[in-house]
Formats: sequence, C-alpha cells, structure tokens
Amino acid sequence: MPTNPAASPPRKLAAGNWKMNGLSAQLAEARALADAFPAPGVGVLLCPPATLLATMAQATAGSAIGLGGQDCHEAEKGAHTGDISAAMLADAGASHVILGHSERRADHGETSEQVAAKLRAAWGAELVGIVCLGETAEERAAGRTLGVVGAQLAGSLAEGATAANTVIAYEPVWAIGSGQTPTAEQIAEVHGFLRAQSPDPAISLLYGGSVNPGNAAAIFAIPGVDGALVGGASLKAVDFGAIVTALQTA
Ligand code: PGA
Repeated sequence: MPTNPAASPPRKLAAGNWKMNGLSAQLAEARALADAFPAPGVGVLLCPPATLLATMAQATAGSAIGLGGQDCHEAEKGAHTGDISAAMLADAGASHVILGHSERRADHGETSEQVAAKLRAAWGAELVGIVCLGETAEERAAGRTLGVVGAQLAGSLAEGATAANTVIAYEPVWAIGSGQTPTAEQIAEVHGFLRAQSPDPAISLLYGGSVNPGNAAAIFAIPGVDGALVGGASLKAVDFGAIVTALQTA
C-alpha cells in the first residue's frame, strides 16, 4: 500500500477538507494537484471521504501531497458499525485526521472530551490530529469568542499534544461555507490567544472558513496564521493550488 508520510510536518500547512463530496472521478483533482506541486516546500494535505483514501494514496504516490481522514473513532477497533478507526485511516495511506470539526460537533453531538479521546486514538495509529474549534455567530455577538475557543482547546487537546502530533484549526462556525470571513484583527486576536494557551508554542495554527484564492494571501499575512483548512475551494485543483501558492510565498 503506498503511503504519503509527513513524519515531521512543516509548520506551514494547507489542508483540503472535501467533506462528503467526491466520487472516484474527483481523483483527477488530486492527481492534478500532485502534478502541480512535486515539492511544494509547505505541507499540502487532502482529506477526502474515507472511500477515496486508498485509491487517492495510489493516485498521489511519490508526490508531496499528504492525506488525511475527516474523523476517526476513539476505540482502536471493535463493534462500532459504520465507524472508522485511526489505524484504518493510516492503513489506507493517511498521515493526518481532522477531529472535532464543527459539522461533527453539530451533526453528531461530539463533545470536546470525545475529541480528546479521538486525538489519543489518532496518536496511537501515528496520525497527526487536526483539532478544530470555533465560535458560533451568537457566541461572537455575545462577546464570548475567546471563552468558547479557550474551553474547546482545553477540552479537546489530550495531554501530550505537541507540534509533532497535533495541528489546531480555528474555524468560526459562521465563516464555514458562508463566504464570510472574520477581519484580520479578529483572526489575529484568536490566533494569538490560542498560541498563548497551546501546550507547545510550535504547534501549527490554521485558519479555516471561506478561504479562497482571492483572500488566501491576506489571511496568510495575518500574524500567527500558519496555514489554512479549506473546504469548498479545495475541491478544484486550480483553486486549492492557488491557495498553496499563496502559502508558499507568505
Ligand atoms: P469552507 O469550509 O472553506 O468551505 O468554508 C472550511 C471547513 O469547514 O473546514
């Protein structure tokens, strides 16, 4: 089985989250991205649906494109119908796994405590966990942003999180898929706060929420932003490639 190792992930990371999008025809986009960035010099990661992981590992074999899952179960294995383990993701070619995305927290009621358990499971399979957190529009309007993300961070990061095994993604819920982004000051404030609270100052801190080729360079210029977790704009190699290029030159 081909693997796409990212043993010592670079701090600058562009991660594409395909969510529940992509049948096998979508593999052409992964191939195009792999061809466009034979050695990007920054971390580039695609997180397709689990059904595509193994074939995508073959499609991107020998390239610098890493692969990630979108969730894993907290148990190593067992009677959990419909779930996927961290070891299965690693076996299919993943080096990373997204954990605690707001869509998982909302659709499946995932708590920060569960996210921490999943993070430990990811480490057990030698995966890097990308831990997502972010406030809702109501929480921001109520002036609770830092309190909410601080509590999510404290609850979701298992003991032992370091830059080698964990990435943090700040994703305001109201910015995801909405075309709206926070101001540079708002992103800088949260990233500065997360950096100060995080157990390892070298942990990569991504911003996510409506990142696109038009705003990527400005977002990467914000102090404390090490990269992006990209949803919609990661589905097309040309768009995600432009975001990768913006990160390379940031
Ligand atoms: P978006 O999604 O880029 O489509 O807003 C980001 C995410 O949910 O990770």
